[in-house]
Parts: sequence; C-alpha cells; structure tokens
Amino acid sequence: MNNFTFKIPTDIRFGKGQVECLPEELAKYGKKVLLTYGGGSIKRTGLYDTIIRLLEGFDVYELGGIEPNPKLTSVEIGAKMCKGKNIDVILAVGGGSTIDASKHISCAACYDGPAWDLMMDRSLIKEALPIAVVLTICATGSEMNSGAVITNEDTNEKLEINSPLLYPSLSICDPTYLYTLPPKQTAAGTVDILSHCMEQYFQHNDEAYITDAISEAVMKTVVKYGPIAMEEPDNYEARSNLMWASTVGLNHMLTVGKGGAWSVHPIEHVVSAFYDITHGVGLSIITPAWMKLALSEETKGRFARFAREVFGVCEDDDMIAAQMGIQKLEEFNTGIGMPLHLSEVDIDDTCFEKMASEAIRTSGLSERAYVKMSEQDVMKIFVLCK
Ligand code: NZQ
Ligand code: ZN
Repeated sequence: MNNFTFKIPTDIRFGKGQVECLPEELAKYGKKVLLTYGGGSIKRTGLYDTIIRLLEGFDVYELGGIEPNPKLTSVEIGAKMCKGKNIDVILAVGGGSTIDASKHISCAACYDGPAWDLMMDRSLIKEALPIAVVLTICATGSEMNSGAVITNEDTNEKLEINSPLLYPSLSICDPTYLYTLPPKQTAAGTVDILSHCMEQYFQHNDEAYITDAISEAVMKTVVKYGPIAMEEPDNYEARSNLMWASTVGLNHMLTVGKGGAWSVHPIEHVVSAFYDITHGVGLSIITPAWMKLALSEETKGRFARFAREVFGVCEDDDMIAAQMGIQKLEEFNTGIGMPLHLSEVDIDDTCFEKMASEAIRTSGLSERAYVKMSEQDVMKIFVLCK
C-alpha cells in the first residue's frame, strides 16, 4: 500500500431535518452570508423558503442562476460580491455545480487578480472564505472534497481547481431533498458515483485491498439502489444509501494507498466543455468504450474482479468475465435511461481530434493513467462510442 495522508475537515450532518442546525453553525463564521444556488429548483421545491426562514437575523446576499457545468463568469460575479459586501461565509444550496462555483468564489474572493489565475497556479490559493453546503443532488462528492470543476467559456476549458482550503466546513445531506430530482439527474448522478469509484479502483496498486473492498461495497450499493431510486423517487432507503455513496465515493477514502491518474473523467470534461452536456451522461457514454480499449491480457484480472464483485458475474475465465462485466455496465446504464452513444446527445465527429488533443493536454492520461493513452487512443474511444 502506498503512503498516504488523510484529513477531511468537513462536518457532515446527514439525515432528515438536519438543515435546522444552519443558524447555529453559520453564526460561527459571522453575519454576512452569500447564498448561492442554481437555476431555480430550490425555489420550486420550497427549500429556498426554508433557508430564508433559517437565515433570519443574518445579512443575506444572493447569487442565483449558477449553471450546470458552472462557468467562470459566475465565479467572477460571486467573487466581486464577496469582496464588495465583505462576506463572512458562503452558503451553497444545490449540487456539484453550485458547490464548485462557490469553492472557486471562496478563494477568488481572497485574491487580488483574476479568478482563473488560481486555476492555472494553485500555489496562489493562500486563503478562502468558509463554505457551508446544503446538498440537493448526490453525484459529485463535492460536499466533502477539495475539488471544483469550472468551465472557462473563452478558452473552452473545463478544469479542476483543488486545494485543502476548499473543503466545505459544513455539509448538510438530507436524502429527502433528492425526492424532487428529475429522473435524468438521478440517473446521471448514479453513473457519476459509480464512475468515481471505478476511476480509483482501476489502478495498478493491488495491495490496497481494504481500499478496493470498500470501493466494491460502494459500487454494489450504487448498482442496488440506483434503479430503486429511479422507480421510487421517494424511497428513503435508496436515496440515503446513494447520498452517502456519493460522499464516500469521492472524499478520497477510495484512493488511499492507491493513487494514479483518472482515465474517463478527463475525456468527459473535454466533451462537456465543448458541448455542455450533463456530466453523468457523458460518463455513461465514454466509460464502456474506455473499458473496451483498456481491457487486455495485462488488465483482464482487475476487470474480471470488477465484473464478479460488482455485477455478480459467475465465469471462471478472466477475459470472458471481464467482457461480461462491460456488458453488464452497459445494461445498467441503459436500464436507468442513460445513453451509450455520442450521437444520442447530438455529438458528431467534428471535434473528435480537437477534443482528443485537449484531453491529453489537460490530464495525466498519457503518463500516469491505469492504461496509458495517446491522442489516437482517445480518438478510438470516441469512434467506439460514436
Ligand atoms: O440548477 P437547478 O435549478 O438547481 O437544477 C439542478 C440542475 O439543473 C437540478 N437539481 C439539483 N438538485 C435538484 C435539482 N432539481 C430538482 N430537485 C433537486 N433536489 O439538477 C441539475 C444538475 O445539477 P448539478 O449541480 O449540475 O449536478 P451535479 O451535482 O451532478 O454537478 C455536476 C457538476 O459537477 C462537476 C461536473 O463536471 C459538473 O460540472 N463535478 C465536480 C466534481 C467535484 N467537485 O469533485 C467531480 C465530478 O466528477 C464532476 O466533474
Ligand atoms: Zn464525476
């Protein structure tokens, strides 16, 4: 097992009604709150009214309209508000997009230059405002990790900013908030959680047995409860298991002792930067194609283990088991209404070359990934899932 450090400063409050702790917890940081949210779902579900009631007595400033695949422009507006109003704490109510924009805002608010500088050079992140989160969609794990993915519309880049200063201080995870998710978002979140586990699981270090075993448990949880949440949106058992799976899936617990660069996410991030598709939808399309390309005599053992442990494949031959696992994953994705082809989201081959080159340039795919990939390999993946 590789050496590792593991420190997560986020206070998680999980379960029904946990939002009531907000006034007491936020007061620890001050009175001036920047409330951030997305395109309006929190107003439709009534959560906005609850939050406003709980924030009585605070000075509340609002930044709504944060877009899925959040844009640098929103970050810049938020940072300007924080500086102008001397904000004490950011309260992000929403999913990965709102939380990620808030994370970038939190450090841009404490920096004198352009917000994008901090993406290009993380050593410039010296300070950040505290962030509290009320999570409304489970997918990214952003509620308990230090990363944020932001799109620069001018350069077509979707990149990750990361710093220990960006962990939320508090995250309220109430599974009942997931009941109102549109089926497509439940499905996309489910695929995303599974993908986070897979990115960390498909790495060379086999001695981190405990990490792989926890990962398999999380993946089995997703495979069991994803379809149930699709069928029964207000099934608390399904929603609560998925919600915790998303947090554990990307709070670095599943990477300890392993490491290595991710394979599918860097490719998806480029696709969603170029075409603004939903992150989980992109992953659903690209993951099976990546698996087909990455499967070889050298990797078949791990792919077979994945097939047997996660999808219960009973087959002694590793190569056949591995192939069955890929098929099971495809069936799982389509079973929850997710696509397997770029054409299903109106993407043709126009930008394949540009996207492949960008994926290699912005990631560790060619140097540190489980199976090292070249630009030509990424092109092959696009062709496989076209
Ligand atoms: O914007 P509103 O109106 O709130 O609607 C949202 C949005 O349209 C809606 N929604 C959220 N909660 C809802 C709801 N609708 C009804 N009821 C609710 N309870 O769902 C849509 C998607 O929301 P979004 O925040 O975009 O989803 P998600 O959490 O999947 O975040 C995706 C973003 O996170 C990035 C992705 O690339 C993408 O930009 N990621 C962030 C990561 C991280 N910080 O660690 C890692 C991930 O791999 C990922 O890259
Ligand atoms: Zn993801």
